[in-house]
Amino acid sequence: MPRPYQPSLLRILHGAVGLLVAAAWLSGLIVYSLHDGRWGRLPWQPAGNWIDIHGSLGVLLWPLAIAFGLYALTLGRSRLRQPENTAVLLGLALAVGSGKLMDEDWLRQGDLNQLVYVIHLLAWLLIGAAVVWHVKAVLGRGGLPLARSMVSLQTRSNDLPHHWPGQIRRFFRRSG
Ligand code: HEM
Ligand code: HEM
Repeated sequence: MPRPYQPSLLRILHGAVGLLVAAAWLSGLIVYSLHDGRWGRLPWQPAGNWIDIHGSLGVLLWPLAIAFGLYALTLGRSRLRQPENTAVLLGLALAVGSGKLMDEDWLRQGDLNQLVYVIHLLAWLLIGAAVVWHVKAVLGRGGLPLARSMVSLQTRSNDLPHHWPGQIRRFFRRSG
Protein backbone atom coordinates (compact mmCIF):
# COMPACT_ATOMS: atom_id res chain seq x y z
CA MET A 1 0.00 0.00 0.00
CA PRO A 2 1.41 3.48 -0.82
CA ARG A 3 2.34 5.60 2.18
CA PRO A 4 -0.63 7.88 3.03
CA TYR A 5 -0.07 11.58 2.37
CA GLN A 6 -2.13 14.53 3.63
CA PRO A 7 -2.16 17.90 1.83
CA SER A 8 -0.07 20.49 3.69
CA LEU A 9 -2.98 22.96 3.96
CA LEU A 10 -5.08 20.30 5.69
CA ARG A 11 -2.20 19.33 8.00
CA ILE A 12 -1.51 22.88 9.11
CA LEU A 13 -5.18 23.67 9.80
CA HIS A 14 -5.83 20.28 11.43
CA GLY A 15 -2.69 20.63 13.60
CA ALA A 16 -3.43 24.18 14.78
CA VAL A 17 -7.08 23.34 15.54
CA GLY A 18 -6.11 20.06 17.26
CA LEU A 19 -3.58 21.75 19.57
CA LEU A 20 -5.94 24.61 20.44
CA VAL A 21 -8.87 22.24 21.07
CA ALA A 22 -6.68 20.21 23.44
CA ALA A 23 -5.66 23.42 25.27
CA ALA A 24 -9.29 24.67 25.37
CA TRP A 25 -10.48 21.28 26.63
CA LEU A 26 -7.94 21.20 29.47
CA SER A 27 -8.31 24.87 30.44
CA GLY A 28 -12.10 24.31 30.33
CA LEU A 29 -11.67 21.41 32.76
CA ILE A 30 -9.83 23.75 35.16
CA VAL A 31 -12.52 26.47 34.75
CA TYR A 32 -15.17 23.83 35.47
CA SER A 33 -13.34 22.63 38.56
CA LEU A 34 -12.77 26.16 39.93
CA HIS A 35 -16.18 27.69 39.19
CA ASP A 36 -18.70 24.86 38.85
CA GLY A 37 -17.66 21.45 40.21
CA ARG A 38 -21.25 20.13 40.54
CA TRP A 39 -20.09 16.63 39.57
CA GLY A 40 -16.65 16.79 41.12
CA ARG A 41 -13.49 18.85 41.29
CA LEU A 42 -9.84 18.29 40.43
CA PRO A 43 -7.86 17.12 43.47
CA TRP A 44 -5.53 20.08 42.92
CA GLN A 45 -6.78 23.53 41.90
CA PRO A 46 -4.25 25.59 39.95
CA ALA A 47 -4.11 29.32 40.72
CA GLY A 48 -4.67 31.93 38.00
CA ASN A 49 -7.45 33.60 36.06
CA TRP A 50 -8.46 30.53 34.07
CA ILE A 51 -11.62 32.06 32.62
CA ASP A 52 -9.45 34.69 30.90
CA ILE A 53 -6.84 32.12 29.83
CA HIS A 54 -9.59 29.90 28.38
CA GLY A 55 -11.27 32.90 26.73
CA SER A 56 -7.98 33.91 25.05
CA LEU A 57 -7.45 30.36 23.74
CA GLY A 58 -11.05 30.47 22.46
CA VAL A 59 -10.42 33.77 20.67
CA LEU A 60 -7.45 32.17 18.86
CA LEU A 61 -9.41 29.00 18.13
CA TRP A 62 -12.56 30.31 16.51
CA PRO A 63 -11.11 31.89 13.32
CA LEU A 64 -8.95 28.80 12.78
CA ALA A 65 -11.96 26.54 13.37
CA ILE A 66 -13.90 28.48 10.72
CA ALA A 67 -11.02 28.12 8.22
CA PHE A 68 -10.71 24.39 9.03
CA GLY A 69 -14.47 23.92 8.73
CA LEU A 70 -14.50 25.64 5.33
CA TYR A 71 -11.64 23.38 4.19
CA ALA A 72 -13.40 20.24 5.44
CA LEU A 73 -16.66 21.19 3.70
CA THR A 74 -14.96 21.95 0.38
CA LEU A 75 -11.53 20.50 -0.46
CA GLY A 76 -11.82 17.85 2.29
CA ARG A 77 -15.47 16.96 1.59
CA SER A 78 -14.82 13.37 0.54
CA ARG A 79 -13.30 12.61 3.96
CA LEU A 80 -16.53 13.60 5.67
CA ARG A 81 -18.05 10.35 4.35
CA GLN A 82 -16.34 8.85 7.41
CA PRO A 83 -18.95 9.49 10.14
CA GLU A 84 -16.32 10.01 12.85
CA ASN A 85 -14.71 12.85 10.88
CA THR A 86 -18.11 14.54 10.64
CA ALA A 87 -18.73 13.92 14.36
CA VAL A 88 -15.54 15.78 15.43
CA LEU A 89 -16.41 18.62 13.09
CA LEU A 90 -19.93 18.91 14.56
CA GLY A 91 -18.51 18.77 18.12
CA LEU A 92 -16.09 21.55 17.19
CA ALA A 93 -18.86 23.70 15.68
CA LEU A 94 -21.02 23.28 18.79
CA ALA A 95 -18.14 24.04 21.21
CA VAL A 96 -16.99 27.13 19.30
CA GLY A 97 -20.53 28.38 18.56
CA SER A 98 -21.71 28.08 22.18
CA GLY A 99 -18.35 29.46 23.40
CA LYS A 100 -18.88 32.63 21.36
CA LEU A 101 -22.26 33.08 23.07
CA MET A 102 -20.83 32.60 26.59
CA ASP A 103 -20.78 35.52 29.00
CA GLU A 104 -17.56 35.40 31.02
CA ASP A 105 -19.36 36.71 34.13
CA TRP A 106 -21.92 33.87 34.43
CA LEU A 107 -19.51 31.49 36.16
CA ARG A 108 -17.97 34.23 38.29
CA GLN A 109 -21.50 35.06 39.56
CA GLY A 110 -22.41 31.40 40.12
CA ASP A 111 -25.06 31.51 37.38
CA LEU A 112 -24.69 27.86 36.33
CA ASN A 113 -28.07 27.18 34.70
CA GLN A 114 -27.78 29.39 31.61
CA LEU A 115 -28.86 27.35 28.56
CA VAL A 116 -25.80 28.47 26.54
CA TYR A 117 -23.51 27.29 29.37
CA VAL A 118 -25.24 23.90 29.55
CA ILE A 119 -24.81 23.55 25.75
CA HIS A 120 -21.13 24.58 26.08
CA LEU A 121 -20.65 21.86 28.73
CA LEU A 122 -22.38 19.26 26.53
CA ALA A 123 -20.17 20.28 23.60
CA TRP A 124 -17.12 19.75 25.81
CA LEU A 125 -18.19 16.15 26.55
CA LEU A 126 -19.22 15.56 22.94
CA ILE A 127 -15.96 16.73 21.36
CA GLY A 128 -13.98 14.69 23.91
CA ALA A 129 -15.90 11.54 22.96
CA ALA A 130 -15.79 12.36 19.23
CA VAL A 131 -11.99 12.81 19.24
CA VAL A 132 -11.55 9.41 20.95
CA TRP A 133 -13.83 7.84 18.30
CA HIS A 134 -12.02 9.73 15.49
CA VAL A 135 -8.54 8.62 16.59
CA LYS A 136 -9.73 5.01 17.12
CA ALA A 137 -11.30 5.00 13.64
CA VAL A 138 -8.17 6.48 12.03
CA LEU A 139 -6.02 3.83 13.74
CA GLY A 140 -8.52 1.11 12.77
CA ARG A 141 -8.65 2.22 9.12
CA GLY A 142 -5.00 2.97 8.44
CA GLY A 143 -3.07 2.18 11.62
CA LEU A 144 -0.10 4.25 12.73
CA PRO A 145 0.98 5.16 9.14
CA LEU A 146 -2.36 6.99 8.57
CA ALA A 147 -2.27 8.68 12.01
CA ARG A 148 1.36 9.70 11.44
CA SER A 149 0.57 11.12 7.98
CA MET A 150 -1.54 13.86 9.64
CA VAL A 151 1.26 15.00 11.96
CA SER A 152 4.18 14.45 9.55
CA LEU A 153 6.23 17.54 8.64
CA GLN A 154 7.35 16.15 5.29
CA THR A 155 5.87 17.96 2.31
CA ARG A 156 6.03 17.17 -1.41
CA SER A 157 7.70 19.79 -3.60
CA ASN A 158 4.38 20.39 -5.42
CA ASP A 159 2.43 20.99 -2.16
CA LEU A 160 4.09 24.05 -0.63
CA PRO A 161 2.18 27.09 0.76
CA HIS A 162 2.45 28.96 -2.54
CA HIS A 163 0.54 26.09 -4.19
CA TRP A 164 -2.49 26.54 -1.88
CA PRO A 165 -4.27 29.26 -3.94
CA GLY A 166 -3.95 27.07 -7.06
CA GLN A 167 -5.28 24.01 -5.19
CA ILE A 168 -8.31 26.02 -4.03
CA ARG A 169 -8.91 27.49 -7.52
CA ARG A 170 -8.71 24.02 -9.13
CA PHE A 171 -11.21 22.62 -6.61
CA PHE A 172 -13.77 25.33 -7.37
CA ARG A 173 -13.20 25.11 -11.14
CA ARG A 174 -13.76 21.32 -11.03
CA SER A 175 -16.89 21.51 -8.91
CA GLY A 176 -18.25 24.75 -10.41
C1 HEM B 1 -9.27 18.08 18.38
C2 HEM B 1 -8.79 17.14 17.71
C3 HEM B 1 -9.18 16.82 16.28
C4 HEM B 1 -10.12 17.36 15.45
C5 HEM B 1 -11.10 18.50 15.73
C6 HEM B 1 -10.04 16.62 14.20
C7 HEM B 1 -10.84 16.84 13.09
C8 HEM B 1 -10.73 16.19 11.88
C9 HEM B 1 -11.60 16.39 10.73
C10 HEM B 1 -12.81 17.33 10.70
C11 HEM B 1 -11.13 15.62 9.72
C12 HEM B 1 -11.68 15.58 8.28
C13 HEM B 1 -10.94 16.64 7.49
C14 HEM B 1 -11.47 16.87 6.10
O1 HEM B 1 -12.67 16.71 5.84
O2 HEM B 1 -10.65 17.28 5.24
C15 HEM B 1 -9.97 14.92 10.20
C16 HEM B 1 -9.20 14.03 9.48
C17 HEM B 1 -8.16 13.29 10.00
N1 HEM B 1 -7.66 13.35 11.28
FE1 HEM B 1 -8.35 14.51 12.79
N2 HEM B 1 -9.04 15.67 14.29
C18 HEM B 1 -8.51 15.76 15.58
C19 HEM B 1 -7.49 14.99 16.11
C20 HEM B 1 -6.77 14.03 15.40
C21 HEM B 1 -5.69 13.25 15.95
C22 HEM B 1 -5.16 13.32 17.40
C23 HEM B 1 -5.25 12.44 14.93
C24 HEM B 1 -4.15 11.39 15.02
C25 HEM B 1 -2.97 11.63 14.64
C26 HEM B 1 -6.02 12.74 13.74
C27 HEM B 1 -5.84 12.18 12.50
C28 HEM B 1 -6.60 12.44 11.38
C29 HEM B 1 -6.40 11.79 10.09
C30 HEM B 1 -5.35 10.72 9.77
C31 HEM B 1 -7.39 12.31 9.24
C32 HEM B 1 -7.62 11.93 7.76
C33 HEM B 1 -8.60 10.81 7.85
C34 HEM B 1 -9.20 10.42 6.54
O3 HEM B 1 -8.51 10.48 5.50
O4 HEM B 1 -10.37 10.06 6.60
N3 HEM B 1 -6.95 13.72 14.07
N4 HEM B 1 -9.74 15.28 11.53
C1 HEM C 1 -13.11 21.53 23.91
C2 HEM C 1 -13.82 22.21 24.78
C3 HEM C 1 -14.05 23.71 24.67
C4 HEM C 1 -13.89 24.55 23.61
C5 HEM C 1 -13.41 24.22 22.19
C6 HEM C 1 -14.25 25.87 24.06
C7 HEM C 1 -14.24 27.00 23.25
C8 HEM C 1 -14.61 28.27 23.66
C9 HEM C 1 -14.64 29.43 22.80
C10 HEM C 1 -14.31 29.44 21.29
C11 HEM C 1 -15.02 30.49 23.56
C12 HEM C 1 -15.24 31.94 23.08
C13 HEM C 1 -14.08 32.82 23.35
C14 HEM C 1 -14.38 34.22 22.84
O1 HEM C 1 -14.39 34.42 21.61
O2 HEM C 1 -14.62 35.11 23.68
C15 HEM C 1 -15.25 29.99 24.92
C16 HEM C 1 -15.65 30.77 25.99
C17 HEM C 1 -15.86 30.29 27.25
N1 HEM C 1 -15.79 28.98 27.67
FE1 HEM C 1 -15.20 27.41 26.55
N2 HEM C 1 -14.63 25.82 25.38
C18 HEM C 1 -14.53 24.50 25.79
C19 HEM C 1 -14.83 24.01 27.08
C20 HEM C 1 -15.22 24.77 28.16
C21 HEM C 1 -15.49 24.30 29.50
C22 HEM C 1 -15.40 22.84 29.95
C23 HEM C 1 -15.81 25.38 30.28
C24 HEM C 1 -16.14 25.47 31.75
C25 HEM C 1 -16.94 24.77 32.36
C26 HEM C 1 -15.78 26.55 29.44
C27 HEM C 1 -16.06 27.84 29.84
C28 HEM C 1 -16.03 28.96 29.04
C29 HEM C 1 -16.25 30.32 29.52
C30 HEM C 1 -16.55 30.72 30.98
C31 HEM C 1 -16.16 31.16 28.41
C32 HEM C 1 -16.28 32.69 28.38
C33 HEM C 1 -14.87 33.23 28.48
C34 HEM C 1 -14.71 34.62 27.93
O3 HEM C 1 -15.52 35.08 27.13
O4 HEM C 1 -13.69 35.26 28.32
N3 HEM C 1 -15.42 26.14 28.14
N4 HEM C 1 -14.98 28.63 24.95
